[in-house]
Formats: sequence, C-alpha cells, structure tokens
Amino acid sequence: RPLTVAIVGATGAVGMEFLRCLAERRFPVKELRLLASARSVGRELSFDGKALVVQELTEKSFEGVDIALFSAGGGISKRYAPIAVAAGAIVVDNSSAFRMDPEVPLVIPEINAGAIAGHKGIVANPNCAAIIAITPLWPIHQHNRIRRMTIATYQAASGAGAAAMDELADSTRAYLDGRAFQPRVLPHPYAFNLFSHNTAIDPETGYNDEETKVMRETRKIYGDPDLRLSATCVRVPVLRAHAAAVTFECERPIDEARVRVLLANAPGVRLVDDRERNIFPMPRDASQQDDILVGRIRQDLGDPSGHSISLFVAGDQLLKGAALNAVQIAEHLLAA
Ligand code: A2P
Repeated sequence: RPLTVAIVGATGAVGMEFLRCLAERRFPVKELRLLASARSVGRELSFDGKALVVQELTEKSFEGVDIALFSAGGGISKRYAPIAVAAGAIVVDNSSAFRMDPEVPLVIPEINAGAIAGHKGIVANPNCAAIIAITPLWPIHQHNRIRRMTIATYQAASGAGAAAMDELADSTRAYLDGRAFQPRVLPHPYAFNLFSHNTAIDPETGYNDEETKVMRETRKIYGDPDLRLSATCVRVPVLRAHAAAVTFECERPIDEARVRVLLANAPGVRLVDDRERNIFPMPRDASQQDDILVGRIRQDLGDPSGHSISLFVAGDQLLKGAALNAVQIAEHLLAA
C-alpha cells in the first residue's frame, strides 16, 4: 500500500537526501509532504522528476501522514514528533532528542532491525559518527565480543547542516583570495584548519556532546551496557563524509585475517585496503556512496596480547550517517 510520507526539514542537507533516497529506493510513496520553516514556503523541490512545493511546518501538517522523517534539529523534533504520533504517523527522527529514551528504539538496521518492532510511535536514527564507526564492527562483535573501543573521528561539515557546508566553501574561497572571512555557523576558521567538535564540553568528564553521544549510543545499539568506549570527535574541512580511526579490543585473541573476512561479508560495508598502492578509505570516495568503506586493517601493536585491531573507516554522513539509515528504518516499518 503506497504511503503518505512527510519530510520535516525538507530543504536541509539531510532533507534533500531523504528525497533522493526515497526516489532511488522506489519507496512506495502516494503523497510526499515537504515541510520546512516559513522562510521556505513556496520553494519547489524535485522528487522523482516532479516539482513539489514546500509547505510550512505547523501542528496541522501531519493529518493523514503514515511516516514522518524528521531532520530539522532537536527542538523541532521535541515539539512536533509527539504531534505527528498523535495524528497517527510513525516518526523516524534524525535528531538526538529521543535517542536515549528507553521507550524509543535506536536503530542501525544492519545491527538491530529487530528493535524497530517495539516502537511506540518514534524510532530514532543514531548519531552519524556512531553509525559510520560501528556498523562495520558488528559482525566482529558477534564473533568475538569487543570489550573496549577507542574512536577518533574526522567529521565533515554536512553534520552541521547545509549552512556549514556553504561556510566551508566560502571560507576556503576567501582564504585563497586573501580576503578576511568571519565564520557565521561554526565557531572557528574552517579553511585549511580542523578543530575539536563544536558541541559543548561536559565540565565533569571533559568529553564534548558529540563524543558522549557516540559512546552512549553505541552501548544502546549494540545492547551491551558494559562495552567500554572512548571517543575524540574532530571537525575536518571535508564536505559530506565522515572518517574515523578505530581501535578495538576483543575478549579473545583475534587476528587481522579473520577481521578481513568478517568485514568482507559485512552488510553495508566495502573493503578498501590496498597496501601496495596505498589506497584506503577516503571521504572523497565515500561521498554519495551507500556503503561504508573500511581499510587499514592491522593488528594493534600496542596490545601484545593479540586481542586488538586497528582500522580506518569512511562513510557518507548524509546517506548512511543520516538519510539512508532513516529510509532503511522506514522500509522495515513498511515490511512489518
Ligand atoms: P528552512 O530551510 O526553511 O530553514 P540543515 O540541517 O541543513 O541546517 O537544515 C535544517 C532544516 O530544518 C531545514 O529544512 C530548515 O528549513 C528546517 N527548519 C529549521 N528551523 C525550522 C522551523 N522553525 N520550522 C520548520 N523547519 C525548520
């Protein structure tokens, strides 16, 4: 049965990818309702070759909606997701508003699609850096439990929205032209620079919010509250794909050959691990790709007990990190 689908934040960086994923994956859409702020009313966006007009998000936007995909920030989700649910819609929420709510499934379909069935109207899409770092590791965790993980991220502008992507391009152009540039979206100069993730630091732990999300959400998605994690999240001048260096320690000894076989068969993952030609996952190659690229697979020589492996991943932040994962969740809702 074709569905009525609403996109909240349709004009945003993730919103536009929702449109593309729904069309490309032939999601059975009867009516698509594009919602954004009053600023965007009347703007036309193309869906599957047809022009659709953006409407203002209001409390009445969800009448008759079967599935609502939200990506307009946590504040909008907190206010409007319950309204959408009351109107009978199932919400797939890309914000962090409900992720740690015990009533709300937090889902990467390759890992815990089974959790979707327990939803009470809202399913949460995880943090983008968490999705890209931990999706490839799940088959390893199942084979030989990972008890500890250290993640260092290299995060793209897209995670901070379309305006941050524009700021990266504009500030780079200004830098090359020798013009001064005043950052508007991000707190630091972005061209030819990188900086610690622009979320607040917890004064008790010293971790920023992004790092805390990666650590907490991984435990919830893996269903393993005892998993020990440490993350360092950094914003790098890349447009739309996150990368991460990951080192993990398993309960039993593990060797890199075994890890390579597990990753070669992992869903949603592509091995890029060419030592001879020095070709490994790059954000440029991961951009616009559904698969997460994984390589640099090697024994962690810092752990002589042979329990630890280091590797490097890159994945499209707007696709598997956001829109694609949400549409995959919607496909599971459809099949239920
Ligand atoms: P708009 O384009 O009208 O501002 P991004 O993540 O790329 O920054 O995109 C954010 C998305 O959230 C945009 O589609 C934006 O719409 C939407 N949005 C932001 N604030 C509101 C609001 N108050 N009501 C509805 N949509 C909003």
